[in-house]
Parts: sequence; structure tokens; C-alpha cells
Amino acid sequence: MWEGKAPGKVILFGEHAVVYGRPAIAVPVNGVEARVTVRPGRRGSGIWLECCNLPAVGQGNGGYHYPFREAPAGDPLRVAVLLGLTYVGIAPSQEPDLVLTISSTIPIARGLGSGAAVTTALLRALATYFNRPLSAEETSQLVYEVEKLFHGTPSGIDNTVIAYQQPVYFVRGEPVELLQVGAPFHLVIADTGVTSATRQVVGEVRQRWQVERTRYEGLFDAIAVVVRAARAAILNGEWRALGPLMNENQALLEELDVSSPELDRLLTAARSAGALGAKLSGAGRGGFMIALVEEHNIAPVTEALQRAGAAQVLSTYVTSPAET
Ligand code: MEV
Repeated sequence: MWEGKAPGKVILFGEHAVVYGRPAIAVPVNGVEARVTVRPGRRGSGIWLECCNLPAVGQGNGGYHYPFREAPAGDPLRVAVLLGLTYVGIAPSQEPDLVLTISSTIPIARGLGSGAAVTTALLRALATYFNRPLSAEETSQLVYEVEKLFHGTPSGIDNTVIAYQQPVYFVRGEPVELLQVGAPFHLVIADTGVTSATRQVVGEVRQRWQVERTRYEGLFDAIAVVVRAARAAILNGEWRALGPLMNENQALLEELDVSSPELDRLLTAARSAGALGAKLSGAGRGGFMIALVEEHNIAPVTEALQRAGAAQVLSTYVTSPAET
């Protein structure tokens, strides 16, 4: 059996502004992952997709399997398989006999990058099976092709952080900077339980930007100042300084009108329980929030978030790969 895996991700600073050319910082969430295994199928079977717990286009809530050639055109798994086959040098007309089993523990449509992670895991599994090297850079570019089809105008930060699997400082169209984390730190990550369609929220911000361009450009510039300060704090190991910067970034996101009552309730709960700072993460209007927490405070902050109605609470340790 051959397999590919990929972690989830959170945006630490700079969501939305990153779509408009400002910098952003994202980190992998290693406690959750997408996993794809490949095994040879029956002779003449073609490719079968087995989705253990993933809803796919028109297919209910998972636990089903279907032949690749019957997948609807709008199925992201179909697009990912087509890209993967092309990458390993196989024409789709010469469909190999394979079973691809796809599972993921990354919550869907909450800003944790589940789509990009599933695509990454699938490409890695196919590349391993066909013995074809696949660099992080190549993975990121291929996954971006799928992201563009399903997310409107993505900045490319999700595919980048997931493909590289380490903290990144990202500016659209520029080479990625892999961030060396001066001193590791903990994040508590909580789900509002409210689905957030990135495409829709990004589209709404764009509409408001078109109407109030000067004000929005000013807000994006202010977010960029916070992101640059956060980059310096991370590199210098001054992670406590990230708390106030997260609060500042959240205030600017509120001015962009992408927060929500559910997010605000969780942010207040985390701060009251001793988090050093907190903000929404991803597109907003739902999805996840993140809080910077000292190690001894992880349990109290987690409990406070659960009491405030979080659907799920995770935590992650942000560090550079050599230290994990
Ligand atoms: C989504 O994870 C983050 C956004 O900035 C959109 C994007 O960067 O494509 C809201």
C-alpha cells in the first residue's frame, strides 16, 4: 500500500489582506490530517475513489465509493486525480486500475484547509505509487490549480503552507519565505460550528472594497504593518508579543466586517480565560478562531471555549520542522 498525507493549516495573521498583495503568516496544524492510500485495483476496473468520511459532489456524507470515470465534472477529487495522472505522465485515457482511499480528520469548510490538504495527500499518494518525485514547490503549484477552480480568487497561501508543512511568510506572487520560529509557542484553535464559504466571504469583501476602495486599502495596509511586526516577533523568539498583535489584527478584521457573534463569543471566552491574544482565522463569518496560550493555560482556555459553545477545540505547537 502506498500513501500520502497532509496537515491542516491556520492563518496566523493577514487573511483577506493577502488576497490584495499584503503579506500573511500561516502555520500547519499537525493534530489533524488528510490521508490517501493507493492500492492496485481489479484488472480492468479503472480508478475507484473510496471516501471514508468525506462528503463529495452529489455523494452524501461519506462512506461511499465510486468509479473515477463517473465522477461529476465539479468533483474536486476528479480534478485532483486528473492533475496527478498528468503529473506522473499517464494519459487519462490509459486509466490505471487503482483504488484510492481518502480520509481526513480536518473539519470541512471551516478555514482549516481541508480541500487543499486532501488534494495534497492525493497527489503525494499518486506520486509515491508511480515512483515520481514531487517537491513541495511542485505540490503547491498543482494544488493551487485545484484551489482556483473551487475558491474563486485564492491568494495561494493555503496550498503553500500545506505543501511545505511549516510556518510560512507569504506574499502573493513572491517566493515563499519559510519562517524560522525563534521560540516555539502554543495555539488553541476552536470551531464556531458555523460553516464558512471562503469563496463567498472573499467575494463580499471584494464588493465592499470596490465601493470603499480607499478605506479598504488603508485597512489592508494596517494589517500588513501587524503582519510584519509578527514576522519579526516569531523570528526573534518573542512569541508573547504575538498576543497583542493578534488582538490588533482581529480589530482590523472586524472593520472589514468578517467577524460574527459566534466568533466574538469564543474570542471573549479565550481572552477572559487568560489567552495572550485571539483572532478569527481564515475567511471569517464562522469557521475557527485561534488563541495564543501559555502551556499551563491550554486546559483552562480549552474548557472556557467549550463552555462558550465551541463545536471542537484543538491545539497545535508552532515550531520549525527541525525542532518537532
Ligand atoms: C483563506 O484561508 C484566507 C483568505 O485570505 C483567502 C485567501 O487567502 O485566498 C480569506
